[in-house]
Amino acid sequence: MIKYGLLLFSALLLLTFCHRENSPERILSSSKAHYKKQCASCHGASVEDFTKKEWKHGNSRLELINSIKNGFPDIAGHNFSEKLNERQIFNLSNYLLDNMVANKEKMLQNAVPKDNKYVSEGMTIVLDTILTDLENPWGIVFLPNNDMLFTERIGKLWRLDGNKKKTEITGVPPSLVESQGGLLDIKLHPKFESNRIIYLTYSKTKDSLGSTYGTTAVYRARLDNDKLVDGKDIFVAEPYTKAFHHYGGRLAFDRNGYLYVSVGDRGGKDDYPQFLDKGPGKIHRIKDDGSIPADNPFINRKDAMASVWSYGHRNPQGLAIHPQTGELWETEHGPRGGDEVNMIQKGKNFGWPVVSYGTEYDGGSFTSITRRDDIINPIDYWVPSIAPCGLAFVTSDLYPAWKGDLLAGSLRFRYLDRCDLEGSKLLKHEQLLPQIGRMRCIAIDNKGYIYVAVEEPGMIFRLMPQ
Ligand code: HEC
Repeated sequence: MIKYGLLLFSALLLLTFCHRENSPERILSSSKAHYKKQCASCHGASVEDFTKKEWKHGNSRLELINSIKNGFPDIAGHNFSEKLNERQIFNLSNYLLDNMVANKEKMLQNAVPKDNKYVSEGMTIVLDTILTDLENPWGIVFLPNNDMLFTERIGKLWRLDGNKKKTEITGVPPSLVESQGGLLDIKLHPKFESNRIIYLTYSKTKDSLGSTYGTTAVYRARLDNDKLVDGKDIFVAEPYTKAFHHYGGRLAFDRNGYLYVSVGDRGGKDDYPQFLDKGPGKIHRIKDDGSIPADNPFINRKDAMASVWSYGHRNPQGLAIHPQTGELWETEHGPRGGDEVNMIQKGKNFGWPVVSYGTEYDGGSFTSITRRDDIINPIDYWVPSIAPCGLAFVTSDLYPAWKGDLLAGSLRFRYLDRCDLEGSKLLKHEQLLPQIGRMRCIAIDNKGYIYVAVEEPGMIFRLMPQ
């Protein structure tokens, strides 16, 4: 009896010990110690100072790990793979990345203006608060008379007129308002003025064997005096799954009137993004009535969904057409350290989960593929991850210093990221409107004014150039 007691006791002791060994506090304190012992002599006693610097060799996780493991040809001895094991190096890279996050947050905090006047490179902006007390505004468009239509994820669609009076639009399809699901994006038909047709994305649900399943769907209807009529689903990203996140759900019309729909991986990274016969993890391209364009890339393949335009996507929550080139641009949430800006190409593989700039530690080792010939690389990526949502090109002359640039909202860091573009080349990022809120959506009205929507609390602002 005593023998068993002793055995149980030692087993428990071992368990607690192992548990503590892997606890976040334990990992943090050993990473701190490794930094002090191995890195501080050259990179500075405080890790904050190190992570604040502009880095030359890249700051994605893989580049960090590579810098630590393999060093650089011109710097002798910058090779720590003898002194630290894989896991310790991975944890050290986490420690550096976490510090970048903390630094970025501090920097944005310090950049909040006291007088509602946001000074950027070449532009000064004052915020005009359009609406407050919203739940979670997700998509915005403007009617020909410049009334705003916007969705709230909880399943509501509103029209806001020039006197800021809000009217609910009825006839919206019921959606699965759970986790990231609900009523999502909205777009007008390119010929809305004559046909009054609008498009909505939402999480469509069905019950089966006592469980709730959902997927991303596109609903097309006619707007008739604040009512949606003749509505029907024109696209459903089969299969339905039990996950309630990574819906994607953005819409964009190109110059030829084709409609693009983004669908996230629904949390099934190994089941969907690389399989052409599955809807999730794709950008789809359909006609305005939901039928399939004859020149879609996989239309003749029996093992593919005919609507697939590109694949290997994680959670694309930004779609916009480049005003000069007509190309489709996209932003997507990668894993930590790998949020991407992509230029979408017909029939191409964007790599998730085979290739990514951010890697997830899977216990044994990290997959360190960042390039493969058949996979399209992003135009750029964000480290640390900003969780991009909403995307728009600045087309109007109201913001001369930003004209032609790309705007992406950041959920994670609560600001507007301006991607400074020269044509299709991304030169740099500027952080606008620091701390404004979890940014969900960006839209441009018929006069050229930029609007942004944030959540928690839900608000919509207009950016007034000074
Ligand atoms: C003997 C001095 C020395 C030590 C010790 C050292 N480094 Fe470095 N490290 C350098 C130099 C020099 C560079 C190159 C900087 C440059 O290219 O401007 C560098 C570059 C780097 C970079 C790339 C930075 C960039 O600009 O992109 C990373 C990341 C890095 N070191 C991490 C570490 C870590 C983590 C440790 C501890 C495990 C460490 N280093 C220890 C000298 C050192």
